[in-house]
Amino acid sequence: MSSEYSGAAAPPHILIFPVPLQGHVSSMLNLAEIFCLSDLHVTVVLTDYSHRRLLRHGGLHSRFSRYGGAFRAATISDGLPDDHPRTGEAIFDVVMSLREVGGEQFRRVMESSDGASRRRVSCLIIDGMMSYTLPVAAERRIPYFIFRTISACAFWSYFCTPEIIAAGEMPLRGNDEDKLTYWRKKEMDFPVTAVPGMEGILRRRDLPGLLRVNDAANLSLQAMAAETKATTKANGFILNTFEDLEGPILDQIRKHIPNLYSVGPLHSHLKSRLESSGFESSQKNSSSFWAEDSSCIDWLDSQPIGSVVYVSFGSVTMLTRDELFEFWYGLVNSGIRFLWVIRPDSVVGNRVGDTIPEELEEGTKRRGHMVEWVPQSTVLGHPSVGVFFTHSGWNSILECVAIGLPMICWAYFVDQMTNSRFVSEVWKMGLDIKDTCDRVIVENVVREVMEVRKDEFLERARAMSIMARNAISEGGSSFVNLNRLNEFLKSTTQR
Ligand code: UDX
Repeated sequence: MSSEYSGAAAPPHILIFPVPLQGHVSSMLNLAEIFCLSDLHVTVVLTDYSHRRLLRHGGLHSRFSRYGGAFRAATISDGLPDDHPRTGEAIFDVVMSLREVGGEQFRRVMESSDGASRRRVSCLIIDGMMSYTLPVAAERRIPYFIFRTISACAFWSYFCTPEIIAAGEMPLRGNDEDKLTYWRKKEMDFPVTAVPGMEGILRRRDLPGLLRVNDAANLSLQAMAAETKATTKANGFILNTFEDLEGPILDQIRKHIPNLYSVGPLHSHLKSRLESSGFESSQKNSSSFWAEDSSCIDWLDSQPIGSVVYVSFGSVTMLTRDELFEFWYGLVNSGIRFLWVIRPDSVVGNRVGDTIPEELEEGTKRRGHMVEWVPQSTVLGHPSVGVFFTHSGWNSILECVAIGLPMICWAYFVDQMTNSRFVSEVWKMGLDIKDTCDRVIVENVVREVMEVRKDEFLERARAMSIMARNAISEGGSSFVNLNRLNEFLKSTTQR
């Protein structure tokens, strides 16, 4: 894995550009590291904001230093002020602002990423919603791949947006203010028939958040639908999933995008490739945007095996104070132990309030532990954890699938709406309570998954984790696909 080369002896140089949010950056850094291991040169484009976070909390330098000059990070501005929240619905500001200010900066990054010890960039790997980078690829006549960090089932739902609209299955007729009315609730349970391969599975409430709107001309939806369809023009398409998990949906996508590489679960794939290259895969692999609080491991060490519900709603979810308290009461009233990650910026208006009801304080002291951010893979693999109560972000689901734990799925927005349906209805690894966090429902579902149906869900989860391991092992589908991708990239050197 030599890293200093001169001129033509240097390996092909791949430029990777993730959407600058935690989930996207984590998956793309995992792919970047796999490429470094495969003796490719990589430049990852980060925004100043995400770069700062990774330097401070994610150990970016220590993680990639072993690859010498093979890895570089280039930075651009996302065009937003430092104190912009970059969470909740405000993440769309990040995407939209980059569409405005990203193009020229990207061109400059491309120009400056060619150096004495590196070849010119020979292939681009970009996230969704980044078509503004494509003129540069065209001018340089280099191939580009799209890597969407979401599930195949969510991608495929976005892909079918025009068909869903043509079938009259969206826009929704009730408006947002009607959210809780009888009609709206009923409408949300109507089936979606226009997504091939998902008949009998999807209801309108399971469509990705951007499609659950009452205006088909919604700008974010139209932008997402157009960029998703445009994936057909890329030289290849990468998804962080595996054939045994999403095979039937991948087959549907292949009818439109034949050069598809399913290479997941990427975090375990990287771990396995590091181990077979003789490297230790340690916590240095973290790409956290927040400081990891490892005190929770001591707390977990003192809990009985399989007794704890681990609760985390990911990196961008925002909860209202009412939602927070419904979840909290539900957890405490279930009588089951819980470890709960609540990011410091995750309660709307930073308003937990001064008065926390005594029964919640007491119940939490007795059976709970709350932290701001944890090393999630370590927590999920801890023997005391029995169930993952998740917001259904795709990385979180894959990390749980790899470990083999049952899930309780809630969903905040975007792809999470579809992911949570697949966990409960297709993979049968847990239950889906999207669109509600009523304390009684939370209490019941925690008991149901932790006690009443635990064995049933555990059996499914363990079987799936074996399939995940097989996919990334030598000869497995993701292993073979990743090698095929590596081979292609190695053939892209600029002539
Ligand atoms: C959301 C989407 O739902 C996701 O599918 C999409 O690709 C990006 O935006 P996010 O809220 O970031 O994602 O969820 P998720 O994809 O699950 O990623 C969160 C990451 O943060 C996971 O890798 C998880 O391990 C990590 N994490 C979370 C920690 O390391 N510590 C924590 O305490 C909580």
